[in-house]
Amino acid sequence: MILRSGANRWTLLIGKRALKIARHRYGRWNNLNEAAFGPSPLVAPTRAYLRGWIATQPRCEPVSRYEWETLKYGYVREIREHVPCERKPCSFGWLGDRLVAVDYGWPGPYGKSSQAP
Ligand SMILES: Nc1ncnc2c1ncn2[C@@H]1O[C@H](COP(=O)(O)OP(=O)(O)OP(=O)(O)O)[C@@H](O)[C@H]1O
Ligand SMILES: [Mg+2]
Repeated sequence: MILRSGANRWTLLIGKRALKIARHRYGRWNNLNEAAFGPSPLVAPTRAYLRGWIATQPRCEPVSRYEWETLKYGYVREIREHVPCERKPCSFGWLGDRLVAVDYGWPGPYGKSSQAP
């Protein structure tokens, strides 16, 4: 089991799954926004539970520095035309042989106004 920390979520990598635990309400909104994104071949699909405090994704393989250099002007740019993800390697991963966004929950419908989902 591996733990990876982001500013908004802790991600536990367990077997073939990634379990994303919100650190605070922004993490919760990130989880809810990813789950609301809908089916897309450009992202790791997300399911959220417990009002967004936890979410799951398929585990993806990290993008190497070398891969990033060749992808950042090409396929990464195409993904970012459709998906709200930051231009950094840890926002992406390999789902099998497909590059997908793994951190794409901001901005989105949750967390924009004073709503309490
Ligand atoms: N499905 C996944 N498979 C493998 N690793 C993942 C997956 N989802 C996230 N990670 C890794 O876990 C770390 C934290 O997750 P994530 O980026 O979703 O959290 P975050 O709080 O939104 O991060 P940031 O501070 O970059 O906004 C990242 O380094 C990311 O690469
Ligand atoms: Mg993030």
